[in-house]
Amino acid sequence: MKLFGVLGDPVSHSLSPAMHNAAFHALGMDCEYHAFRVSQDNLRDAIHGAYALGFGGLNLTIPLKEKALGIVKPAELAEQIGAVNTVDFREGIVGYNTDGIGAKMALEKRGIKVRGKRVLLLGAGGAARAIAFQLAKDGAAVTISNRTIERAQTLARDVSRVGSTRASGFDDLKTQIQDCDILINSTSVGMFPQVSETIVTSDMMHRDMVVFDIVYNPVNTRLLQEAKKAGAKAIDGVMMLVYQGAEAFRIWTGRIPPVDVMEKAVRERLK
Ligand code: ATR
Repeated sequence: MKLFGVLGDPVSHSLSPAMHNAAFHALGMDCEYHAFRVSQDNLRDAIHGAYALGFGGLNLTIPLKEKALGIVKPAELAEQIGAVNTVDFREGIVGYNTDGIGAKMALEKRGIKVRGKRVLLLGAGGAARAIAFQLAKDGAAVTISNRTIERAQTLARDVSRVGSTRASGFDDLKTQIQDCDILINSTSVGMFPQVSETIVTSDMMHRDMVVFDIVYNPVNTRLLQEAKKAGAKAIDGVMMLVYQGAEAFRIWTGRIPPVDVMEKAVRERLK
């Protein structure tokens, strides 16, 4: 029996145990995945303890992702992003960040290649950092738009080392949206319980665009409802959650993750 886990605080509502246990079960693997509440102060002991106990791997969530950088050996992308969401123990204690690739694969699953596309990314927090680095590296032209423009500028400066990026505030959002192929909401706006909130409404959108919301609670956010009204292609946050997990699964096990099984497990719990 191999053990895996997600560390966070709070962590009891994490969907990762259901998602990974469904994957292990589907592949007939003798593995179990559990959630562990761990404070920032105990993170070092928890990671080294899991390593000593022979764990197969860990995920990290709020508020541990940034703190982990000083504890694990980070892969290049995790170091650039400044956060770790996946820890692998096969060759020492190595930290990865699969959030950005989760976003990229969620888009690809719907047939959208990011290379050469104009992406308008709303937000400049932790989730935005991971997405901005990944998509800029993959050849998208990324405009980072944030309520607090200084945070967008800081992130754009960091990301400009790996790809094409610029920063903006919310002043000129309508024009920016007219000029983009893919709009991604990486802010918490629209998340339960503020379910009627959205930064962008249908009158600002056009039908040839893709609207991707990383919020998955609720699944059908106000932003996605607006996108459908505008005739745009809507992609929900479940797909990013699933693909960041699928990539972690692949890193730990070397197996092809059963993505459909993982998605079904998550959607059932979100019902
Ligand atoms: P995370 O790590 O989950 O991305 P975060 O670092 O707290 O969380 O970032 C939250 C993001 O949502 C920020 O971009 C924040 O904008 P500010 O930098 O201006 O605070 C954005 N955000 C949160 N509430 C918002 C709101 N009501 N309107 C617009 N942006 C909002």
